[in-house]
Amino acid sequence: MSTAIYPGSFDPVTYGHIDIIKRASTIFDKVIVAVLDNPRKKALFLVPERVKMLEEVTKDIPNVEIDSFSGLLIDYARSKDVNIAVRGLRAMTDFDYELHMAQTNFLISGGKLETVFLTTDLAYSYLCSSTVREIASFNGDVSQSVPESVAKLLKSKYGY
Ligand code: COA
Repeated sequence: MSTAIYPGSFDPVTYGHIDIIKRASTIFDKVIVAVLDNPRKKALFLVPERVKMLEEVTKDIPNVEIDSFSGLLIDYARSKDVNIAVRGLRAMTDFDYELHMAQTNFLISGGKLETVFLTTDLAYSYLCSSTVREIASFNGDVSQSVPESVAKLLKSKYGY
């Protein structure tokens, strides 16, 4: 059985992430979407909140599981006995960072953790979670970027 991990911050999950999750779920038997508890990023949503919103937006995809982790991705992947990570590439600007991360993970895992890249759907290549947060913080319309359930959570986080 082929299993892949799709790691990320998902603060919040956007249509861009959902596109990657759906496509990965057609390639691998199982996809574990893993929310990183990253002390270096000041998050809007707590990890359990991000897990819950991901569960909601992926509830119709049977081979997707939502989890969270902290620490190194290679250690989490080892604990799950998985050797494939999936990442989305939106534009050239993502490339340097992703290449560096993929090569580092390959090296420090002793050649065990491979990274598979999926190119983000053109319709979502402009999207990122911080822009969504900024628009939502001013009560702007984020309906083109996130599902309704996530838009509602953003509204209540920002007190609208
Ligand atoms: N569609 C829309 N947006 C996307 C996207 C897509 N397909 N792919 C990425 N993004 C956006 C995210 O929304 C996020 O936006 P933001 O910065 O505005 O909030 C941004 O791109 C970063 O993406 P994300 O997937 O959340 O990556 P990250 O840099 O926060 O985390 C990890 C990447 C989790 C894979 C990495 O940090 C990790 O593995 N950390 C664990 C520690 C470790 O192992 N380190 C060694 C590796 S070098």
